[in-house]
Order: sequence, then C-alpha cells, then structure tokens
Amino acid sequence: MSLTQSLLRSPAVAALTSPHGVDRYLEIMNPMWAVHDVRARVIGIHPETDEVTTLTLRPTSTWHGFRAGQFVQVGVEVDGARRTRCFSISSSEVGDPDTLTITVRAHDDGLVSAYLAHRARLGLVLHLSHAEGTFTLPETLPQRLLMISGGSGITPVMSMVRTLVDREYAGRITFLHYSRFPGSTIFGRELEELAGRENIDLAVVHTRAGGERFTAARLEQVAPDFADIDTFVCGPAGLVENVQRVFGDNDRLRVEYFKTSTITADPDNAHGSVRFARSGRAAENTGGTLLEQAEALGLRPEYGCRMGICFSCTSRKTEGTVRNVITGAESGLPDEDIQICVSQPMGDCAVDL
Ligand code: FES
Repeated sequence: MSLTQSLLRSPAVAALTSPHGVDRYLEIMNPMWAVHDVRARVIGIHPETDEVTTLTLRPTSTWHGFRAGQFVQVGVEVDGARRTRCFSISSSEVGDPDTLTITVRAHDDGLVSAYLAHRARLGLVLHLSHAEGTFTLPETLPQRLLMISGGSGITPVMSMVRTLVDREYAGRITFLHYSRFPGSTIFGRELEELAGRENIDLAVVHTRAGGERFTAARLEQVAPDFADIDTFVCGPAGLVENVQRVFGDNDRLRVEYFKTSTITADPDNAHGSVRFARSGRAAENTGGTLLEQAEALGLRPEYGCRMGICFSCTSRKTEGTVRNVITGAESGLPDEDIQICVSQPMGDCAVDL
C-alpha cells in the first residue's frame, strides 16, 4: 500500500472527513478514486439479445476479485436517486484480474436492470459491492459436473463454465439450459462453441409455446447418474424447485435462485392490518411482503435485491409476527430488524417506516 493510501485510510483522515468519509471527497475529484468503497467504470457494452446486455467493468483498486458463481450489488443513479440491485458475474475468474462482466436482463419492473441493459454508456461509473455468495465451484474439482440453468440464471453458471474451460478442466461437464425460444438464449453462439468441446455435453431446451419444462426424464436422459454428480442449478424458482424435487435430499446439489417466485401474497396470512408507524399509513394485510405492502401505500423504502440478499431494505419491526418467505422462519420478537423484501406479516404488524 502506498504512503498516500495509508494516510487516506488513517483514523486522522477519517475524523477530518466525518461524517461523509474520505471516499465521498475523493469521488468528487475523480469518481475512480477510492480507498474503501468499490466503484467500476463501464469499459465495454455487448448486447446479447434484445433484452440482455453484457457490461464489462473495470473496478477501482479497492476491488478484491471474485470467484466464479458469485454476485455483486450494483448501485447506479437513476432519476436522481441511487438504486442498488444484485447481478451475477458472468466472466471467468481466470484472466484479467482488473475487469469483470455482468450480464443484465432488462426486467419490465426493474429500474436498475432496464437502465443498465438499455441506457448504460461507456465511461459510466457504477457503485459496486465486493463479490458475495457461496454458489461457487469446489476447491478440488470432481471428475464430473452437472450444470442446470434457466433464462438469466445462466450467468453465474457461465462464469463457472468459462472458468473451467480457462483452467483446462479435464473432467466431463453436462450442461442443461432452458431458454424461452432460440433468439432469447443468452450466450447462444458461445454455447454452440462449447457444444463442440470434447468434454462438454450441452442440451438447450426451449420452453415457449408448448415447449418442454424441466422433467426427471430429461435429466435422466442427459445425466443418468445425476445423483452421484456435483450439480449446480440456477434459474427461476420453479426450475430450481423442480430440480430439488427430483434430487431429493442430496448434498451434491447446489442451488441459486435467480428470481424468487415464492414472494407472492399468501392468502393464509392475509388477515389483520399492517401499520407503517413513521408515515402514519395503514391498511388491511394483503399477505404480500412488507416491502410490497409499503409500496402499495405509496411509501418508497430503500431496497436492493428484493431477494433477501443485500440487506438494503432492513427496517425495524415494532410489533407482530413475520414469516421469512425464503427460509420459512417465523419471528415475533418486538423491536427487531427484518428484511422487509422477504418478510410477510402473519396478522397485525407494525414497522418503523
Ligand atoms: S432488498 Fe436486498 S435484502 Fe431486501
């Protein structure tokens, strides 16, 4: 670490620049200067499909690198406010340590994803978290690997496969991918090239217009010995849950939900009322998540991933019991901090919002 960096990280500089911190002042001088925060400049833009774009990012020197399969939180100013969402890294962990790629699908209801997929320009500077997540390849690679992905869930899986190819992995990879129709297949051309490799068995299945969904029969066709293979699955909750059902209780299966479909209103819990104390808003409990119910009442709580990962939405629950829709855990402690994006109230509930 240089003398300047040591100085900028010192308690004396922290005290002098309080409460904003030294990085706020460095950012004003040059958005790529930082001693604690991570930021990244967009240095490449590559459309994958009509809805999906890959951005190549060059992070600040504060970046610690990543492992294939991990994700980052990306913050960007949209319409005057900073918004944060999680995106999987799609590049290989082997190669240029000073760049990474994220591959972003523009969701209809996604301000950040639509901005990054359609409006990002070269030179744009994004706020970045360090890489997070445990959906990663084992340290010691087994001789067989099975990858199953659906839609945008291919991004972390592709990061793993690219890494394996770069590492000249000599084992066998079976790769089963589901996309809606041929033109919507992300990395379609690269998948064709991968299919030509001796040690990769690739099957791309299309689901649109009466196409095929994941079935045990298809799995047995592509990998009859699947129960004995280290398997990674990432995609919409429906796909992941179907795979889990077929595998049963098998610790060779590693899953990553790309999009949680389970966060829907639960009619069983739709009783009582929900009160947002600070804003004085209240309504009948719809059974949706507290974030959804707050938004329906016109509140704009901070959020990032909306999947229970980033903790941006953490708020204080002052009364009532909530159920975590990811883990199923229920908690009725008073005055506890909860992630409102994945918490459904079970009856009367009050939150400090
Ligand atoms: S928005 Fe990320 S945990 Fe709730």
